[in-house]
Parts: sequence; structure tokens; C-alpha cells
Amino acid sequence: MKKLLFAALALVAVSALADTKSAAENQLKGKLPGIFARAAEQYRLLLKNLESVATEKKPFPKRWENGELVTIPPEDWCSGFFPGSMWYLYEYTRDGFWRTEATKFTAIQDRIRHYTGNHDIGFMLMTSVGNALRLDPRPEYPGMLLDGAEALTKRYSEKLGLIRSWGKIDEDKNFLVIVDNLMNLELMQWASKNGGGEKYAKIAKSHADKTSQHHFRADGSAYHVLNYNQHTPGKILEIRAGQGASVDGTWARGHSWAIYGYTMLYRETKDRAYLMRAIKSADYLLDEAEVPADGVPYWDHKAWAIPHEERDTSAAAIETSALLELSQFVPTEKSAAYRAFAVKTLLALSSDRYFAKPGEQGGFLLTQGVGHKPGKIASGKGGEVNVPLNYGDYYFLEALIRFNNLAGGKSALGK
Ligand code: GLY
Repeated sequence: MKKLLFAALALVAVSALADTKSAAENQLKGKLPGIFARAAEQYRLLLKNLESVATEKKPFPKRWENGELVTIPPEDWCSGFFPGSMWYLYEYTRDGFWRTEATKFTAIQDRIRHYTGNHDIGFMLMTSVGNALRLDPRPEYPGMLLDGAEALTKRYSEKLGLIRSWGKIDEDKNFLVIVDNLMNLELMQWASKNGGGEKYAKIAKSHADKTSQHHFRADGSAYHVLNYNQHTPGKILEIRAGQGASVDGTWARGHSWAIYGYTMLYRETKDRAYLMRAIKSADYLLDEAEVPADGVPYWDHKAWAIPHEERDTSAAAIETSALLELSQFVPTEKSAAYRAFAVKTLLALSSDRYFAKPGEQGGFLLTQGVGHKPGKIASGKGGEVNVPLNYGDYYFLEALIRFNNLAGGKSALGK
């Protein structure tokens, strides 16, 4: 009798969970057309604002700060996000206006196809040219991506088996690797599968394996910056806080890059070690990190004065997009948990608490992004704290499209 009662109660609990899931998902699904309409209006405003401040040297918008639109050159790590967001607007709305604008801004990236000044060429090209190739292929796009991948190999050390993130290619003192670098490996995967040959996948594997080995604590949380001894493979000179609160903290966006990066690597390689790494980091986020109820994290999960710290909507958008993809690769219960967390967070991000009011924030979408708070404290200026950031918008739109795909019975990537 008791057993029967437990079974009945468990059934009620499971169906209540399923109801909650479908209620939240239905709510988000119903909101999607309105969110994209509002996003498109905002980006028309952003384009208009850009007209008066963009220059040949700095053609892309990056953030809105102190009532001004800050623009950047193609060499900035964030240069691909604005064209990329317009590609996502095109993907959802199929309005040719966005294809035309996105194509125009994507073409500018030709200037950086051989750029070796940072490790971010994967971000810069995959978000712009990669999306362009997917949505409106042109013959020049594959060459731009292949050249970009080749440029990234110039920052690779055969001896260490790692790509150098920060610093000059030939710097002797430090060999700095940041967890964000995982994101650039998508370009290497693409190049290997599209005419570049094995070399790029080998570099990606070596970098990803070494990062998995050294860049994480036992609880799955990620360090931001490691300084490797470039003369002794495998030896780490120091751990740096980087954009995080301290070496013991967990910088929220860096941790999001880890979840996203290893999910992408599992998709591309089917190596289960990457899946396990993605799950471990996702579970840290869901179970152990200090994340507020709406899912939008503080800029560092161990920031000094939580709950009186800024949230970072960019970290929220990145991890949401990653969790939606990861939800396809894990058993049912975990999948439901990742998807529920992502849907809850997207509902929050698209609410008036975070979504810019029509006509405000220069035309950006998400308010309350944090780029580099310790940088602001150290320099007393800039630092991108509590501002709209173009990468927050990009991953927000990507996550919404991934959700729409999943809700429509497709894979997150729409296949
Ligand atoms: N380097 C990329 C970031 O700031 O997240």
C-alpha cells in the first residue's frame, strides 16, 4: 500500500515538473515573435546611431557607455558579433534587409583574414563569416575562414601543445592561456573539415586536452588565466585572476566559455572526454555556483560583495546558448534540468529587467553586461561595467534561435 502511495506521489511530482516545463517553454515560445520584432527595431536604431560615429578604421559597434556608442576596428575580439547578430535577425525573420546589412559588415572582415595579433580570430570570423557561409554562402567566405585558421596556427607552440592567448607571438617571459581560447577552436574544427586537413584538428585537440587537464578545479569551475612555462611543457608558472575577482573566484563569462567550448568540441569530435568536461562545468553552474533565482549570474560567481555585485547578462546569454545545445547530448533528467535553466534565464533576459526599453541603450538589446570589472577598478575608468555589450546580444539571439529549433523538434543548431 505504502509502495503504491509513493509511486502515485512520484508520478504527481513528475507530471507537475513536466507541466512547469511546458508552461515556461510555452511562455517563451509565445514571446519569441515579439522579442525578435523588438530586437529588430533596436538594431535598426543601432545602425542609425552607427552612421554618425563609425569610421573606416572603427566600423563596428561594441557597447553603449555614458550615453555614447563605442566603436571598434576589425582587429578587436568583438568585431564579428554585430554582423553575427544581424545574421541571426535574418535567420529568424528572413527579412532581406538584415541579409544586406549583415553581408556589408561581414565583408569588412576580409581585412583580418591573416591577423595574428590575438587568439580571437575564431570569435571574429566564425560569428560573422561563419554565419554568413551558413545562411547565404558566397565563394569568398571559405577562403577567409581557412586563412583565419592558418593565422591562428601562428600562435601555436608545438613544444607546449597550446595556442598562446595574450601577448606577442614571440614573447619569451610569459605564455598566457585564457579559458576563452576554447571558443576559437571551432574555427580550427571547421578548417579541418573543409579542406584545411588534419593539422587544424590536431592543434585543436591538443589545446583542448591540455586546457581540460589544467584549467579546472575539482568542482568543475574554470580558472581564467594560466601562465605556462614555455621552456618546460606542462609546467604552470602562475594562475591569474584575469577578468575575475580573484584566483579563487570563478569569472562568470570565462566559466560560460568553458561550457560552450567543450559542448562545441563534443559536437565536432564526439570525444566523450569533452562531453564529461562540459557536463561537469554545467553542473557546477546549476548546483554550486552562487546564481540568483532568475539564472542571470553575478559577474564572478565568487565576487567580493554578493549580493551587492553587478550581474553579467553576457555570461547568462552564453551559458544559456551552451546549455540548450548540451541538453541534446545528455540523459533525460539532466537534459530537462539544463533546458529548464536555459528557458528560465531566457525569460528573465527578455523581461524588462534586462531587455533594453524600445529606443534606449543606443539600440543594443541586453542591459547590464560586465566586460572587465577589475580593469575598471584598477584604471579608474572604462571597464565596461553594467553596460550593453555586443556579445551579450549575439549569444542572446543565438540562444533564442536554438530554443526555437528545439521547440520545433529540430536539433539546437536547426538540423
Ligand atoms: N576575451 C573574451 C572575453 O572577455 O570574454
